Amino acid sequence: MIECKNLTKIYVNGDVETKALNAVSFRIEKGEFVSIIGPSGSGKSTLMHILGALEVPTSGTYFLDGKEISKYDDDELSMLRQQKIGFVFQAFNLLPRTTVLRNVMLPLLYTDTTKEEREERARECLKYAGLEESKFQNLSNQLSGGQIQRVAIARALINNPAIILADEPTGNLDTKTSHIVMQAFQALHKQGHTIILITHEPEIAEYAERIISVRDGMIESDHKKETR
Ligand SMILES: Nc1ncnc2c1ncn2[C@@H]1O[C@H](COP(=O)(O)OP(=O)(O)O)[C@@H](O)[C@H]1O
Ligand SMILES: [Mg+2]
Repeated sequence: MIECKNLTKIYVNGDVETKALNAVSFRIEKGEFVSIIGPSGSGKSTLMHILGALEVPTSGTYFLDGKEISKYDDDELSMLRQQKIGFVFQAFNLLPRTTVLRNVMLPLLYTDTTKEEREERARECLKYAGLEESKFQNLSNQLSGGQIQRVAIARALINNPAIILADEPTGNLDTKTSHIVMQAFQALHKQGHTIILITHEPEIAEYAERIISVRDGMIESDHKKETR
């Protein structure tokens, strides 16, 4: 489903060049749950931005479902993001004085759907992400950190994406809440979703069935766990 070959990303700021990714290659099959782990500055977010079609690599190729994304222009990238990718970020980027339901429905606003269909789909996704129904009409600033992340997961699911990309989704959560949110990702994986999760915490990475470790923009190791 995903095939990357020699992905390299160089950021240029004035005279300073930073090689954030250095010839990274891997494949991820449909339905895999992969953690990408590495210390701060190792290139994890850069990799996620490329996989999520938010940025293109400086060189190398990225194939998603057989299409070479690394050659796409901005319009093609944005179309691809809407159709295939669900994002969950560390910084909770929900609209604050807006209900949970509206936050989840929002990505469908300009699609060919009725309000009833959007609401129905949002309810389905929220249940799927494990949020109690009594919270659906709450404003998002009236929720706990763990509940907010469930809403963020529901929103990422709304367009039925081929891949779910999560960048440090537990970064702002306490340990107990982090594990609850990771169980929600595990449940999505069991339902057949492809999940790529970025973290710097080994206990969080352990929830995946495969762990790719990056350092200085390169893959240091790539291990699959024994299937349970
Ligand atoms: N937009 C940017 N411009 C310049 N340098 C950047 C930019 N984004 C990231 N970097 C640099 O690229 C390297 C990798 O960053 P990043 O991918 O954010 O790592 P991580 O997510 O693992 O902390 C770091 O040295 C960082 O400072
Ligand atoms: Mg990062």
